[in-house]
Amino acid sequence: MAATVLIGAQWGDEGKGKITDLLSQDFDYVARFQGGNNAGHTVIHGDRTLKLHLIPSGVMYETVTPVIGNGCVIDPKVLLGEIDTLQSEGISCERLIISTNAHLIMPYHRDLDGASERRLGANEIGTTRRGIGPAYQDKAARLGLRMQDLFDRSIFREKVAAALIEKNDILQKVYGLPTYTVDAIADEYLAYAERLKPYVDEVSPLLNDALDRGDWVFFEGAQGTQLDIDHGTYPFVTSSNPTSGGACVGTGVGPARIDRVLGIAKAYITRVGAGPFPTELFDDDGRQLIDVGHEYGTTTGRERRPGWYDAVIVKSAVQVNGLTDLAITKLDVLSGFDEIKVCVAYEHLGKRYTSVPGHQSAFHHAQPVYETLPGWQTDITGVRRFEDLPGAARDYINYLEELSGVPVSIIAVGPDRAQTIFRDWERRQR
Ligand code: GDP
Ligand code: IMO
Ligand code: MG
Repeated sequence: MAATVLIGAQWGDEGKGKITDLLSQDFDYVARFQGGNNAGHTVIHGDRTLKLHLIPSGVMYETVTPVIGNGCVIDPKVLLGEIDTLQSEGISCERLIISTNAHLIMPYHRDLDGASERRLGANEIGTTRRGIGPAYQDKAARLGLRMQDLFDRSIFREKVAAALIEKNDILQKVYGLPTYTVDAIADEYLAYAERLKPYVDEVSPLLNDALDRGDWVFFEGAQGTQLDIDHGTYPFVTSSNPTSGGACVGTGVGPARIDRVLGIAKAYITRVGAGPFPTELFDDDGRQLIDVGHEYGTTTGRERRPGWYDAVIVKSAVQVNGLTDLAITKLDVLSGFDEIKVCVAYEHLGKRYTSVPGHQSAFHHAQPVYETLPGWQTDITGVRRFEDLPGAARDYINYLEELSGVPVSIIAVGPDRAQTIFRDWERRQR
């Protein structure tokens, strides 16, 4: 499976980091294609835990070249901090490639993210306040600065000056915040440029040539399908396309080259930030999911909102992304429940929905229709073969498979790389 795209099938935090790390050993390149340091991907191997925000989760393997594609937005200070942290832990980032066309998160983007959330008050989106939305806004408005701009001082200053005409007005007049000077920004960012230069290159020819040679490329999605700006629960979404099409746009690789699109879904579901959530739980079951699943945001530390598995949402992810198969993670977190619910449809105003309702109000007020399955009371974190799972756990996975219409090829039963059941995964013959 030379070109594999991995995407989140829910609202993010599905365990993409774990699965990417696990599968990366077969790949030559692991590329992020959208988002920025709003992402928080956890990789655990033995007693080592990495929380990655920008650097692709394949970085632990010396055989992997990590790539940050043009579709990403990069806060250079955060990126350099992450490189330093990894290097201090003995993980080399020397192979890292950053696209010349990736956009930069500027200091005013972070300010405007926070200010706009405060202005929205009770209607806030609950962003990570990392400047992601404002950076993508400037990209679309053609006011953005790109990685390549860092390497021409006069162009950089010119573009910052052009952006500041508008940004300073908004900061000062709309929000009453301090303004920026070209000098202050240039001093800070041009110092980053020195350090970033060795990593910056053209990503599209790099990855296409690699595929031509027969190398394997893994595309690591961030966020999730329901956070997609086009296909998610707009406006409670991120500002990029975490769906599989984003992998092509965000790296410059054509869709016909993609062999496999793997969706990651938790055995239940969580969401951080505001927005509709039909299967959300406010009871003891929800508490149990948070406590046992350690459901706290990797990036912001916020407690995640828990809920039962929503098969309608995953079915939508199958269609929107063209999923070829699914990985179900955190199955171990469901151990101990007497009964487990799965949402198979919604009801709203007497109408039954088996796909995500087209109108946001219907989705907002949708009542979940549940099927109830028996739980299992045994610890499954040591299980490595599907046949060794308790019957109820196997039935649960088979049911999710039936509802989604695609095979469940991987099951995660714990956070460690080793705590994984492969049902159907073609390993690379090197
Ligand atoms: P990502 O953003 O999709 O990479 O996911 P996060 O890293 O933000 O959140 C997933 C969390 O669940 C992390 O703390 C992982 O270590 C953990 N995790 C991943 N898979 C499993 C699993 O199968 N079981 C358990 N108990 N934890 C898991
Ligand atoms: P990973 O890659 C979960 C959510 C925020 C907010 C919305 C918009 O770890 O799965 P943004 O800062 O992107 O403008 O916030 O999107 N969000 C995530 N939720 N996991 C993430 O990333 C997220 N990245 C953004 O909470 O609701
Ligand atoms: Mg995360």
